[in-house]
Amino acid sequence: MNLCIIGSGYVGLVSGACFAEVGHNVICVDNDQRKVDALQAGKIPIYEPGLEEIVHRNVAAKRLHFTNSIETGVDGSEVIFIAVPTPPQPDGSVDLSYIEKVAREIAGVLKKNQYRVIVDKSTVPVKTGEKVTETIKRYNRHGADFDVVSNPEFLREGCAVADLMAPDRIVIGGNSDRALALMKKVYEPFNAPILVTDINSAELIKHAANSFLALKISYINAVSAICEASGADVEKVADGIGMDRRIGRNFLNAGLGYGGSCFPKDIAAFIAISDELGVPFTLLKEVQRINRDQKERFLKSMRDALWVLRDKKIAVWGLTFKPDTDDVRCSVAIDIVNDLVKEGSSVTAYDPKGMEKAREFKLISDSVKLVNSPLEAIDGAEALIIATEWKEFANVDLDEVKSRMATPLIFDGRNLFDPATMHEFGFIYKGIGRRQTTKAEPALA
Ligand code: UDX
Repeated sequence: MNLCIIGSGYVGLVSGACFAEVGHNVICVDNDQRKVDALQAGKIPIYEPGLEEIVHRNVAAKRLHFTNSIETGVDGSEVIFIAVPTPPQPDGSVDLSYIEKVAREIAGVLKKNQYRVIVDKSTVPVKTGEKVTETIKRYNRHGADFDVVSNPEFLREGCAVADLMAPDRIVIGGNSDRALALMKKVYEPFNAPILVTDINSAELIKHAANSFLALKISYINAVSAICEASGADVEKVADGIGMDRRIGRNFLNAGLGYGGSCFPKDIAAFIAISDELGVPFTLLKEVQRINRDQKERFLKSMRDALWVLRDKKIAVWGLTFKPDTDDVRCSVAIDIVNDLVKEGSSVTAYDPKGMEKAREFKLISDSVKLVNSPLEAIDGAEALIIATEWKEFANVDLDEVKSRMATPLIFDGRNLFDPATMHEFGFIYKGIGRRQTTKAEPALA
């Protein structure tokens, strides 16, 4: 099929590449000419495992194209996906102006004898599809035939290609049989379960799913505080409750809290839309509060151990909001670096992929020293913070780490290591909600 994707960010670019990979002809549209030029030259603006190979392969096979012209994209494609940003506004509600603009632009180039399916893939509040339909109707001066469909995307950064190629489910919200039949054809090669709903339900599924996952994280983080106060071990507790198939072990990893470009924004948006609909979702405010507290508790434990943070030489491993991505947006790791700088610490940081973007977007102070390896970061450090659980950190030589640090104090914000092992190596080690144990303790054998 001929498909057009408007917006070449994480969702748009990865979706476009994967649609091409399964055999569709895809044209990706972006209004940033520099991005289009870079993509045409084979340069991928984001780091995502496996993405570069698929883009190169499908460009070479002439199934994947890039342009800045919505008209070219819409003219040649029966299905048009909108994958533009939906950023948060200061009050938590979503700025839908990019969606509205694209809807107007699509409407302006629709032709009388061409039927088009316009699919919203961006994460939007419930009832946005209705607005998109109204807008296109209003600006569609030639009276072209079209339908609007909602098709939320559930990919995770860091494994976006894998998620897109083998999704748990595909949600398609629409009320036209013709549009739904075309959408099923688009997704046929993926062999994944398809759930067909009305547009409002499809939009709601996305916010409800992300909020539920964030709730799971805040739940285990609240439990981690109780573990610390009572001497229990959150990893064991998570294993124990996660073995119940009704609960599941996924998304029960205690840590510094959730971050990234989706969860913080989507939860705020879900709160805002539920307020607007007159049914405030107060539970989600508690999810946000626990997430904020988690970082504060971590900083407090550092103050408790180091007494004073001013002038302390602190190493930070990890800047991205999760491993296997270069995305540093809304990263708790970055917040912690900035908090430490504010308190007068001297911070040296290392991240395998995120340092360039942290500097480029001026997310961290110039005083933060960025270095080229985890070991370089800890030379002479009085404490090490593990803020992102990159595999590279789990494989370091712990003896070398200890000998390079001025004082062997580790605050592990992602529970990357086993406390008993760390104590054996001679570290003062503090994880999140972890029991301070020795190897001999049978419960941890
Ligand atoms: C999320 C959703 O998972 C995805 O379906 C949606 O399309 C976009 O939002 P993403 O933001 O890429 O994806 O990352 P995810 O793996 O969900 O992690 C989000 C945050 O939660 C990260 O900061 C991560 O460190 C944190 N997290 C995740 C935990 O703290 N504990 C966990 O157990 C899982």
